[in-house]
Amino acid sequence: MFLRFLAHRSRFWVVAAFLVATPGIAAAADAASGGATTRTVANGNAFSSPARNLPPQWRQRFFDGNQIFNAPWAAPPNADTPFVGLSPTFNAVSCAGCHPRDGRGAPPVNAGDAMTSMLVRISIAGTSETGGPLAHPSLGLQINDKSVAGVPSEGAVGVSYHEVAGRYGDGAPFSLRQPRYDYSPPDGLTSDDAILMSPRVAPAVFGLGLLEAIAESDIVARADPDDRDRDGISGRANRVWDATAGAARLGRFGWKANVGSLRDQNAGAFLGDMGITTDVFPTENCPPAQRDCLRIAARTSGVEADAQRLDDLTFYMESVAVPARRRVDDPVVGRGEALFSQIGCAACHTPHVVTGDHANRIVAGQTIQPFTDLLLHDMGDDLADGRPDFLASGAEWRTPPLWGLGLIETVNGHAFLLHDGRARGIAEAILWHGGEAADARERFRTLPADSREDLITFLRSL
Ligand code: HEC
Ligand code: HEC
Repeated sequence: MFLRFLAHRSRFWVVAAFLVATPGIAAAADAASGGATTRTVANGNAFSSPARNLPPQWRQRFFDGNQIFNAPWAAPPNADTPFVGLSPTFNAVSCAGCHPRDGRGAPPVNAGDAMTSMLVRISIAGTSETGGPLAHPSLGLQINDKSVAGVPSEGAVGVSYHEVAGRYGDGAPFSLRQPRYDYSPPDGLTSDDAILMSPRVAPAVFGLGLLEAIAESDIVARADPDDRDRDGISGRANRVWDATAGAARLGRFGWKANVGSLRDQNAGAFLGDMGITTDVFPTENCPPAQRDCLRIAARTSGVEADAQRLDDLTFYMESVAVPARRRVDDPVVGRGEALFSQIGCAACHTPHVVTGDHANRIVAGQTIQPFTDLLLHDMGDDLADGRPDFLASGAEWRTPPLWGLGLIETVNGHAFLLHDGRARGIAEAILWHGGEAADARERFRTLPADSREDLITFLRSL
């Protein structure tokens, strides 16, 4: 391929190719990344505004869902709040605790600090009867590091980092931090099985209705599992069990496209992250070895978040606006955007998609710029977690959307990227790319410094 060929030539030729290519992008890009849902808001509310096309008569429902998302839930019994059901084990008391301002979580700042907006999925070798990860016999599928009085928690995972030095093609140094996770199950919850761990930070949760509205056939059409076009990039669709539908579905949410629908994702978060039951998952999350957990669970009956609440929450998750791109007329951004395609980033981070049908009509038929193909890619050994998730291997991750990338610092006050937050900014995130993305990473690493800056300026304008 043309680009592949260029990548193996000297930097001079690469620069020359850009000079030829750049004048072609005369027309400024469209700022409306989320189609008609897009809001021009670049402050701390950039990830939590109602879609611009939300009809006035739907606003109340949006705010009802928003309240369920932000409310701190209490352990039962509690007559002082309508949000009761947290128990027996959990990770946080609210959805917003991990997704602050509908934004992104972060890893602990110092070694030994507790995780506050990320979680660690676990499993043992093998697959469940629905084809998913196999639960650890005494810990389940996720480490719940908090619990109500009288119930022991499942312990905490510690993270520490060591620096790995590298150099750009022009000799400029960089350093990446490699995480290391330490965990040992509390007494009574051990087993002989090796524990597979997948640490994951909470992603931002705007624009998700639009991603749900992309036609399955469009996603599958971009997959190239056997790399027939021989561009080094395959892309596979995940297929997962969807408890809401009671059927297998294309996976599109979660860092490994391990969840098939927003309703399932929200019900899974209620139970797995907060210990709150719903009609989708009506049984508290207490593996057989956790006697106190089972004893407390036996005291409650009925679902803790009823179908109305789960539906309102899901409606809310469908209807949060995508923030508008900024500086679309800036020639630097234009150059960076051209580079993004030229060096092969767009092969996975699909710039333009048209959504299909959706029961929530505000997200249907929109021309959007999510910068994701929603497919799984092998990202190499360095990013691998070694924990399969339905069809996703231990080295595969779903291409994350890049819309809103430049607003994370404004909304969440940090710049940590990738599934476990190891990257301290955009350049580090790119430098961690391996596997199918190794060629694109090398083209980035060997760009002249000013071109690297142009690319990052473009990404920061999303
Ligand atoms: C303990 C932290 C934590 C809590 C609490 C939490 N989440 Fe999440 N959320 C995550 C993580 C981590 C992921 C990625 C999960 C994965 O990859 O499997 C996620 C993923 C999601 C996604 C999918 C986003 C995407 O881009 O694929 C949605 C939607 C979501 N959460 C909604 C919620 C809702 C609603 C609640 C409250 C009921 C909630 N979350 C509570 C950590 C949390
Ligand atoms: C082969 C597919 C592929 C290619 C090519 C690719 N990416 Fe990615 N990108 C991914 C995947 C998958 C992840 C998530 C990896 C993880 O979290 O471990 C990711 C993560 C990112 C992130 C962090 C996003 C977040 O939410 O944390 C940025 C920024 C990014 N890519 C930019 C780029 C740029 C710029 C290029 C071109 C130099 C590029 N990517 C090329 C698949 C790809």
